Amino acid sequence: MNLYLRKANILPKTENLAVVTTDIGSIDRRILKKNELDFVRKEAKKKSKFITINQYSRLVFICLVDGNGKGEHMILESYRRAGDTLVSLLNRSKATSVCVTSKEGQEELSAFAEGMLLGNYQFLKYKSKPESNSLKKISFFAPQLKQQDLDATKTICEAVYHARNLVNEPVISLNATDLANAFKGMGKDAGFSVKVFDKAKIKDMKMGGLLAVNMGSIDPPTFTVMEWKPSKHVNTKPIVLVGKGVVYDTGGLSLKPTPGSMDYMKCDMAGGAAVGSAMYAVAKLKLPLHVIALVPATDNRPDGNAYTPGDVITMMSGLKVEVLNTDAEGRMILADALHYAKQFQPELVMEFSTLTGAAAAAIGQYGIVAMGTCEDDTRRDLHKSGEMVYERLAEFPFWDEYDELIKSDVADIKNIGGPMAGAITAGRFLKKFTDYPYMHFDIAGPAFGKGGDSYRGKNGTGVGVRLIVEYLQRRASK
Ligand code: BES
Ligand code: ZN
Ligand code: ZN
Repeated sequence: MNLYLRKANILPKTENLAVVTTDIGSIDRRILKKNELDFVRKEAKKKSKFITINQYSRLVFICLVDGNGKGEHMILESYRRAGDTLVSLLNRSKATSVCVTSKEGQEELSAFAEGMLLGNYQFLKYKSKPESNSLKKISFFAPQLKQQDLDATKTICEAVYHARNLVNEPVISLNATDLANAFKGMGKDAGFSVKVFDKAKIKDMKMGGLLAVNMGSIDPPTFTVMEWKPSKHVNTKPIVLVGKGVVYDTGGLSLKPTPGSMDYMKCDMAGGAAVGSAMYAVAKLKLPLHVIALVPATDNRPDGNAYTPGDVITMMSGLKVEVLNTDAEGRMILADALHYAKQFQPELVMEFSTLTGAAAAAIGQYGIVAMGTCEDDTRRDLHKSGEMVYERLAEFPFWDEYDELIKSDVADIKNIGGPMAGAITAGRFLKKFTDYPYMHFDIAGPAFGKGGDSYRGKNGTGVGVRLIVEYLQRRASK
């Protein structure tokens, strides 16, 4: 991230200034002349949230954040969105730097900084004449905010940038091997270990689901194992993260039927990108937790030897799966990863995947569809974490009866349910490969933004990264 984020020791006189406040009355007298303050009051009556004053040597932005009568998490989200708005105003006026001053609390200002950094993201790699954002330097004049807080915010945003970059990279330059190599790079940078299993090793381990999906590909699959195990960790059993790494999903022989739906299927490794990028933040923040992340990866294509509807696949666990739709490939590769996770006897497995159109259809881009078998207190912490970072969970029922829908005539189970409850039957399929507390997060809705959603931006959103890091930070401080 080429943004400089520091504390300021003095209130600058000529640098662009942003005053973040819930109350105009509390603005520092040194900043505005009387007539300027009158103007601000007049504008605020018109319900303007952002008031810009041109002081010739610089711009002063008064950012009025609405902090009243809402829950804590809604207030933090208002700060993030305000941070994003400020960044767009600054870039529009070609400003290169800004000093933010505020009397608000540390958490609120961290959220504001987060909104600024996430809102300033750009993916310009393939622009011959890139129009880079002008903003390069942000400082905070606010004694309640420590440099350490700013560094932590920057680390988490860097992790989100990593996840977005991976999602935005097309399959022509990011196949399964490239994805594994990207994880290796992040591991080297942040200090966690990365092992990559190649096709021979994957065959040795009899990962039938991953190998089946890979049959139509000319590129080999990979299975990446990442681990962060600091000498001091508060959990005796590890927390395991699992992410879907389908670097491109054509649907395979059951070619995607919906017009245009393939256009953004480079996003089908967003779960893998989220867990790998979360590892980056966990290691950089040196969280006192033992965390492992697993990413099975391949593309899903309809080439010569592609797996077909009607095939029966023996999975790593030994369970036999009748394939009735090759487009339900995510669960095939994740099943092997979930089975592989059993050896760690994890305290919790959190699995992220762009798994079903049904999840996206049910709640849209505004949250994550979740379901699972973990204890109520874990579940509460997960929901709380989701609210705090505004990657909210919509929990679906996970009743045993749904297993009826994935019974097969010829094998143990089939890889699709009927037309009903598609997100849940996918989750129940995955549950068959677990024997530990498990939570499944279907991010098909929020993984790829259509724009107009503030700091989440267009294309890869990096959803999941902040949720995982927030949950792990809470777990570490218990
Ligand atoms: N990768 C897709 C799901 C998806 C949909 C991701 C929209 C992102 C946005 C997944 O592999 C898929 O194709 N699922 C099928 C399952 C069906 C065949 C049972 C679906 O949801 O249609
Ligand atoms: Zn698919
Ligand atoms: Zn898919």
